[in-house]
Amino acid sequence: MKAGFYQFNPVFGDKNANVTKVRDAIKTREMELLVLPEFFATGYQFVSLDEVADLSEEIPNGETTEALRDLSHENNMYIVAGLPEKYRDRYYNSAVLTGPDGFIGIYRKTHLFFEETLYFTPGDTGFKVWDIGICRIGIMICFDWFYPEAMRALALEGADVIAHPSNLVLPFCPDAMPVRCLENMAYAVTANRTGTEQRHGKKPLTFIGKSEVVSPGGKILIRAPEDDEALMGVDIDPAEARDKKLNQYNNILMDRRPHMYSCSQDQKDLK
Ligand code: ACM
Repeated sequence: MKAGFYQFNPVFGDKNANVTKVRDAIKTREMELLVLPEFFATGYQFVSLDEVADLSEEIPNGETTEALRDLSHENNMYIVAGLPEKYRDRYYNSAVLTGPDGFIGIYRKTHLFFEETLYFTPGDTGFKVWDIGICRIGIMICFDWFYPEAMRALALEGADVIAHPSNLVLPFCPDAMPVRCLENMAYAVTANRTGTEQRHGKKPLTFIGKSEVVSPGGKILIRAPEDDEALMGVDIDPAEARDKKLNQYNNILMDRRPHMYSCSQDQKDLK
């Protein structure tokens, strides 16, 4: 199967322009799995709860999920994309999975980053995996990568491919993902964005691009440039992620010894 990403510079607040840009870009490229950035249709730097309320949508009944459903159907592809979700009186930094037959599932970001913590509720879905036929897919969002437990949980749930919508500003993730992939022997598709947002006099946020697809062996199969738009895909073999044997004596998931990892500090307030 071919898996890839569309890295671009969304215009803050202009969902129509951003969705149209994605629609125009992807129609020329065949891919079975496309990952779009975190908050791909809204932009990232919210400056008030009113703004979050204004741009967030219900899932699956909001216009952005509907547009993604249509894009999946029109292009016969699975899509994972990030968007702000409104659920009752709360807001989540969420991602949806859609396929040729419609909406499939939702993940709510577990580890909120920086000023996201002002407006969004930490996710409560946990790390979920969907068997979509061509692969078993799990989702984590951007800063979740910083916590090895996130991708480990997805690997233990059986994910072959981790879709990773992102808006990365720190420099570390693109070089860390090969380790995440190797330690779980799974693929990852990180879809980042480019550009800078500086809204209402806030600290500017420059997004570092470098979207990539990494193999279960920790190899960077494709990587986008730092500051250019890029639609890229590569052939991957999900079966490669199913054999967790490192050699005749070691299976990296079965050799885990969770009872040795329990930490007395884990449940305490570390502040
Ligand atoms: C991030 O989680 N958007 C860095």
